Amino acid sequence: MTATESPEKLLSPVLSSFWDAPDSWTLETYRNHEGYEGLAKALAMDPDELIAYVKDAGLRGRGGAGFPTGMKWQFIPQGDNKPHYLVVNADESEPGTCKDIPLLFANPHSLIEGMIIACHAIRSSHAFIYLRGEVVPVLRRLHEAVREAYEAGYLGPDALGSGKPLDITVHAGAGAYICGEETALLDSLEGRRGQPRLRPPFPAVAGLYACPTVVNNVESIASVPALINKGKDWFRSMGTEKSPGFTLYSLSGHVATPGQYEAPLGITLRQLLDMSGGMRPGHRLKFWTPGGSSTPMLTEEHLDVPLDYEGVGGVGSMLGTKALQCFDETTCVVRAVTRWTEFYAHESCGKCTPCREGTYWLVQLLRDIEAGKAEMADIDKIDDIADNINGKSFCALGDGAASPIFSSLKYFREEYEQHITGRGCPFDPAKSTVWADNGSDNAHLEVNA
Ligand SMILES: Cc1cc2nc3c(=O)[nH]c(=O)nc-3n(C[C@H](O)[C@H](O)[C@H](O)COP(=O)(O)O)c2cc1C
Ligand code: SF4
Repeated sequence: MTATESPEKLLSPVLSSFWDAPDSWTLETYRNHEGYEGLAKALAMDPDELIAYVKDAGLRGRGGAGFPTGMKWQFIPQGDNKPHYLVVNADESEPGTCKDIPLLFANPHSLIEGMIIACHAIRSSHAFIYLRGEVVPVLRRLHEAVREAYEAGYLGPDALGSGKPLDITVHAGAGAYICGEETALLDSLEGRRGQPRLRPPFPAVAGLYACPTVVNNVESIASVPALINKGKDWFRSMGTEKSPGFTLYSLSGHVATPGQYEAPLGITLRQLLDMSGGMRPGHRLKFWTPGGSSTPMLTEEHLDVPLDYEGVGGVGSMLGTKALQCFDETTCVVRAVTRWTEFYAHESCGKCTPCREGTYWLVQLLRDIEAGKAEMADIDKIDDIADNINGKSFCALGDGAASPIFSSLKYFREEYEQHITGRGCPFDPAKSTVWADNGSDNAHLEVNA
């Protein structure tokens, strides 16, 4: 792909192909767009054959880590006489991440079809969707889509054929970021306080109700029907060898046209910006996250990095959720990092000391730096605290909290120093981006253009 190619060539709308069709969320519209055709093909396959097929296609989990989906399904022990569960992670709370919720709102049947296929593969008769509870309109749409699927016989007593049943339960969480961590999610689903579990045992062995469980992201599962319907060669014709297929990139921040851009893995931010109108007029990119605030930030020099797992990993970051938050030159990086860190401190579940205490102290120091009340030694102190959180916490929330600190110090250390030598923020508040902290969930970005 080159930057001069037309948007039509660069984009690969599959999940988003009919989001603007009238009543896109209904069963009727879904069926008019090849909906439930992949299911018929999948049910004709033997479960093990189906797992091998998804493995060969190379589909990788879209929830952040990029773990191969077929391999995850293969970990479920067979012939163990225990119930097997599929749990779909629809908690989506990472700052900047906004793909699963629009996908569910516009096209919920792609997830339901994918869940039926996955349940056939792992021999499960009960699947769950754990949805971030605040998104009530999406909850309603999901309930309605599940009802339609029952009415049409895709779910219920003979869903998987030969009298094999399948039920789907939609569960609304209470809006805690940590409940997106798969084991905290399982605890929450079981009715307990959502806190990560010690592993091993891994969910594939002892997950929901201590039974073998697959936890997959919404987009991972929703991608399966098209993969099966159109075939693994078609899937592999997009993306790269190690990161094949299409995916949703969420472009947000100081860009001219924010939104969901579905493209082959390996597209670059420059290509996405070129086709979508670039940064807001008169401004240039300063820093960006490739996959939400937990992934180390990058700068203008990384505009041509392929947005796949290997490409982004190669420059010291992670593809994560493909939440491309773009910030222009009016943004104070110290301020942005302080707001993110406030989020992590608020969302830390408190189970382990490095994260619980470390995120608290980071916030205190960052606020002082932002206000010009800190000393130079405090810059090394935040680096040191982040180092004590990173890799030493019980779950990956801690690593995510350390990422913006390390990466902002790597690229913008002098901006931290300017706050201290200048005794305050060097950015003009009238021109700069204002982050309004709502005190709890994701900070909202407001722009004084
Ligand atoms: C703090 C934290 C929050 C997470 N939130 C989500 C989330 O909202 N959605 C999601 O799919 N995965 C989330 N994950 C990753 C999950 O633990 C898990 O890896 C993912 O659901 C696996 O799905 P996949 O293999 O399909 O990518 C989170 C992880 C952590 C540590
Ligand atoms: S790293 Fe943070 S969120 Fe994870 S278990 Fe420890 S305190 Fe809880």
